[in-house]
Amino acid sequence: MQNPYQPVPMYIARTVVETEDASLKTFELIFRRDQDREQFFSSYQPGQFCQLSIFGKGEASFGIASAAWEGSFVRFTINKLGAFTHAVHALQPGHTIGMRGPLGNCYPLDEWKGSNLVILGGGYAFTTLYALTKHLLDPAIRSQYGDITVIYGAREPDLFLYKADIKTWYDRDDIQFFQAIDNPQEGWPHLTGYVPAVTKELAPSSKDAVAFVCGPPVMIKFTLPVLNELGFPPERTFTSLEKRMKCGVGKCGRCNVGPKYICTNGPVFSFAELRGLPSDL
Ligand SMILES: Cc1cc2nc3c(=O)[nH]c(=O)nc-3n(C[C@H](O)[C@H](O)[C@H](O)COP(=O)(O)OP(=O)(O)OC[C@H]3O[C@@H](n4cnc5c(N)ncnc54)[C@H](O)[C@@H]3O)c2cc1C
Ligand code: FES
Repeated sequence: MQNPYQPVPMYIARTVVETEDASLKTFELIFRRDQDREQFFSSYQPGQFCQLSIFGKGEASFGIASAAWEGSFVRFTINKLGAFTHAVHALQPGHTIGMRGPLGNCYPLDEWKGSNLVILGGGYAFTTLYALTKHLLDPAIRSQYGDITVIYGAREPDLFLYKADIKTWYDRDDIQFFQAIDNPQEGWPHLTGYVPAVTKELAPSSKDAVAFVCGPPVMIKFTLPVLNELGFPPERTFTSLEKRMKCGVGKCGRCNVGPKYICTNGPVFSFAELRGLPSDL
């Protein structure tokens, strides 16, 4: 059995600077060893995360932003915040980085086959929702679900991730895609308004539908009542939590909330499950 604390060596194949201020950068990592790649892809599902590490700098958690069908790489989009994420941003293609994962649970897609899916994202928390959407767009998977509606909000146009790729979603007839920025801006061809208001306006049907919501806490706070009004009960509304982690495998107790470990019982929870937990999230 593989040691869950032992990172596997990955190399950086490609980087993409996502925003003008370069605070958000995407990394596509490739396995140095075939057996590690096989092990990863034998279990990876959208919604899971990895622990990335740099020798002498530390380790931190990042949601996986790629779907398995896209290729043999694993994608992460990393916000430059503190010491560790600055160190990651300084790495160049060819450099080695450690990775543990995939860790945690995933979006519960198997339970909702045949359903319509409503995906609501705000800011750079869109990473695992992007993985989820990409996964669903695989023709072999797409036919297992009904309508897919994605509403993705950002403060301003530059802050959208994966700009070149998501632009192509407008040309597809198997996904309804909407982008919204917070305030009006000249030349912006899409919607304007905060995600809760835009969701209310577009009013995606809750009939046979499940919602997945990720974003800053304020977006979640105001989106939930809207979803409730539209008829999405907490049992059919899911989110992904971020909480400081250490081991990532349910051993150290660093990430617990009440009886739940975010790293193993989550990071994906329904709002019905969250209702029963202490509010120190
Ligand atoms: C399951 C999971 C998935 C994540 N996915 C991503 C991702 O896809 N992209 C990404 O950029 N980041 C993601 N994060 C957050 C990422 O782990 C932190 O940004 C990172 O640990 C910061 O490390 P640092 O040393 O650069 O900053 P630090 O110096 O450790 O922190 C800088 C600032 O960020 C705050 N912070 C650090 N970690 C967290 C956290 N987990 N939640 C809230 N605030 C935090 C600190 O309080 C501090 O104010 C995820 C976290 C979890 C638990
Ligand atoms: S991070 Fe160690 S128990 Fe979750």
